[in-house]
Amino acid sequence: MSNIEQTLSIIKPDAVERNLENDIKEIFKNKGFSILNEKKIQIEKTEAEKFYKVHETKPFYNDLCEYLSSGPIVVMILEKENAVLGNRELMGATNPQDALEGTIRKKYGISIDKNSVHGSDSVENAKIEIDFFFKD
Ligand code: CMP
Repeated sequence: MSNIEQTLSIIKPDAVERNLENDIKEIFKNKGFSILNEKKIQIEKTEAEKFYKVHETKPFYNDLCEYLSSGPIVVMILEKENAVLGNRELMGATNPQDALEGTIRKKYGISIDKNSVHGSDSVENAKIEIDFFFKD
């Protein structure tokens, strides 16, 4: 049975700054993801705080929100069979040092903060995150 899902992907400021936007989109497309919608935006820190609210008790929360709002990002809706897990596998581990060969974070990530991409961690959160950026 087919299980087409949508997930939210963000190309983070470190990757946009290094002009990696097109390279990363090509990786997604080559792996069979369709980009259903996308926009390049810069968000306020208050919006980043809302987006990452699940992390509000974590010691890295403030830096994380500062960082996500520090420069332009590209937000995308990706669609594919089992897109949520597929995107997580393609991104690789949160810390680029732990990411496997062939993953986006292994190839482009600089540090656990500047890890180039974000992806939804569950189908439920994907819906919430897609709505966050694309519900008008
Ligand atoms: P992301 O997938 O966007 O989700 C939350 C982000 O917090 C994560 O990627 C990392 O960039 C960042 N982060 C910073 N420190 C940590 C940490 N110790 N554990 C997990 N995520 C962290």
